[in-house]
Amino acid sequence: MSGIDYSERIPNNVDLSSDRRLQRALEKWQPAYLDWWRSMGPEGWQEKDVYLRTAISVDKGGWAHFDYVQMPEYRWGIFLADAQPDRKIGFGDHMGEDAWQEVPGEYRNMLRRIIVTQGDTEPASVEQQRALGACAPSLYDLRNLFQVNVEEGRHLWAMVYLLHGFFGRDGREEAEELLARRAGDEDKPRILDAFNQACTDWLTFFCFTTFTDRDGKYQLGALAESGFDPLARTCRFMLTEEVHHLFVGQTGVERVLRRACQLAAQDPNGDVRAQGGVDFDTIQKFVNYWFSYSLDLFGSEVSSNAADFFASGLKGRWREDKYDEHTALDSVMNIPHVKDGKLEDVEVEMRIAMNEVLRNEYVEDCVKVLDKWNKALVQEGRPDIVITLPSTRFHRRQGIYADVHFDPTGKAISADEFEANRDTWLPTDEDRAYVVSLMQAVYEPGKVANWIAAPRKGINGQPFEYEYVRL
Ligand SMILES: [Fe+2]
Ligand SMILES: [Fe+2]
Repeated sequence: MSGIDYSERIPNNVDLSSDRRLQRALEKWQPAYLDWWRSMGPEGWQEKDVYLRTAISVDKGGWAHFDYVQMPEYRWGIFLADAQPDRKIGFGDHMGEDAWQEVPGEYRNMLRRIIVTQGDTEPASVEQQRALGACAPSLYDLRNLFQVNVEEGRHLWAMVYLLHGFFGRDGREEAEELLARRAGDEDKPRILDAFNQACTDWLTFFCFTTFTDRDGKYQLGALAESGFDPLARTCRFMLTEEVHHLFVGQTGVERVLRRACQLAAQDPNGDVRAQGGVDFDTIQKFVNYWFSYSLDLFGSEVSSNAADFFASGLKGRWREDKYDEHTALDSVMNIPHVKDGKLEDVEVEMRIAMNEVLRNEYVEDCVKVLDKWNKALVQEGRPDIVITLPSTRFHRRQGIYADVHFDPTGKAISADEFEANRDTWLPTDEDRAYVVSLMQAVYEPGKVANWIAAPRKGINGQPFEYEYVRL
């Protein structure tokens, strides 16, 4: 049941060959996807052998197979987690009804918007990261970048399957648009802001995979609860792949921090930059920047859309089953609002606060990541250095805090005060140029750039010295 049919042009476990129309539509989309991959995927690496994992089953144990693959030959396919028999809708106004196997007519537009918005982030990140291979700090990192990239490509396939399979003609049009928008393009940008930001260096990549891919984890988790069963099953399997992306980010930043400690110890003045590393202040500023951009992805703290998504049964909470009550009709949340320059708690109906509920889950998870980084700093003999998460109000461009200025502790301040401190809180052009100046490719197996520590172990039981990408 969970086995994947690899004899097909499009590997899948959805019995695609039994639906000729859908199969033909997807086979028509496939060359357009490959054109997009070749022109917008990793630049200059398409003909190289990369040690990649490919999904071969959706079973929890042993779902992945590792081997050398040239990226355009990667078996992108459509994999859904196994169906749960007699699954019911677990929350909202349709709680307890049979989960939908077809699109519920009354929610068609809402559902399509949810799928398109999620789908758009997948190719966007590939586009953002396409030049990073030219300055990879090691072959191990290079391989991890490509692993993340091909899986984001597969996530696009997952969303396009839903559009083609369940939304007819407008689904097919949306699938074309997903290949037409471009990250950072002025005329045809990607839908969400974080996915139009430049990713010119590996510290950015590690912050992005820590904070922005982690937003993805929570969005997918909320959609894995969906009453629309094909979406729920799709997202459940995507979450399995996403774990590695978060690992790449978290361990990446940790290695930059460890190396900064080692370089500071080598310098007579403890100056990390003098030794060619990334200093702690710069790392903190990158964390501030990407954490705040990623918070925006959850949407406004007070949102009638969020209430509608929940009420309709399309988007639930993170691990809905840990809640005792699933209608969220009789509860409220206190959300601080700014009134006359002061913060004041405002009681918000729980459904309206659903974005904030999900964002809070995300922030809790980020706190755990920061704990790990700070533990690494202690291990490296620097308990005096602590990396912190800024307040969720700091540097926001979406939601109820977007029009007010806050310092990293969450205190409301004037625009002038914010501008006066901007360069100590957020990366400056000079900081970015400095980080970019460190980005020199290291392609020798077992070697690593000076500004980052080697990882503790390799991939799939291989040593760090393994030839993860054949040049
Ligand atoms: Fe993804
Ligand atoms: Fe991801």
